[in-house]
Amino acid sequence: MLLDKDISHVLCSKEEIEQIIDRMADEINRDYKDKNLLIVGILKGSVVFMADLMRKIDIKCKIDFMAISSYGSSTRSSGEVRVMKDLSTDIKGYDVIIVEDILDSGNTLSHLKEMLKLREPASLKICTFFDKPSRRKVDIKADYIGKSIPDEFIVGYGLDFAEEYRNLPYVGVLKPELYEN
Ligand code: IMP
Ligand code: MG
Repeated sequence: MLLDKDISHVLCSKEEIEQIIDRMADEINRDYKDKNLLIVGILKGSVVFMADLMRKIDIKCKIDFMAISSYGSSTRSSGEVRVMKDLSTDIKGYDVIIVEDILDSGNTLSHLKEMLKLREPASLKICTFFDKPSRRKVDIKADYIGKSIPDEFIVGYGLDFAEEYRNLPYVGVLKPELYEN
């Protein structure tokens, strides 16, 4: 792949991604068997993960999307959260799982969680593919975690740098010279 040349090393291969998805879907299938499941993907980072995960979920569910932003084109969170696109579903009474690409400072998800709680879902959980626990600034934990990783800026599998590299089919660390200037 042409984008490979910008990657210094692979952090999560296609094969590992597949294993992680299988494991997470098993957990959700087990926990939500008799629930009223609504999966909420956070745009745009979660799209690839969401598409893979939902196809391994074999119980009845609905999906919706929301777009919020806390990052500009830099690699550090601003702490500010804006709703760019709201849900089209009234989540009241649903067992909601928020699907995110990565839990970093936790700013985005803690704001979002508070906001969605006011809409009275039956339950509200967080599912994130990646977790960077060492970077946490607010007290928040995900209920489903794909992989915990050290403090490195990663791209691919939906994750971007300045809106690029989302289409990389695995996850890698960008060569530092591409963003340090
Ligand atoms: P938080 O509010 O700091 O937890 O940031 C969460 C959001 O920051 C994610 O949804 C990503 O869009 C972005 N983000 C955090 N770390 C990375 C990374 O290593 N690569 C790409 N995006 C990241
Ligand atoms: Mg992003």
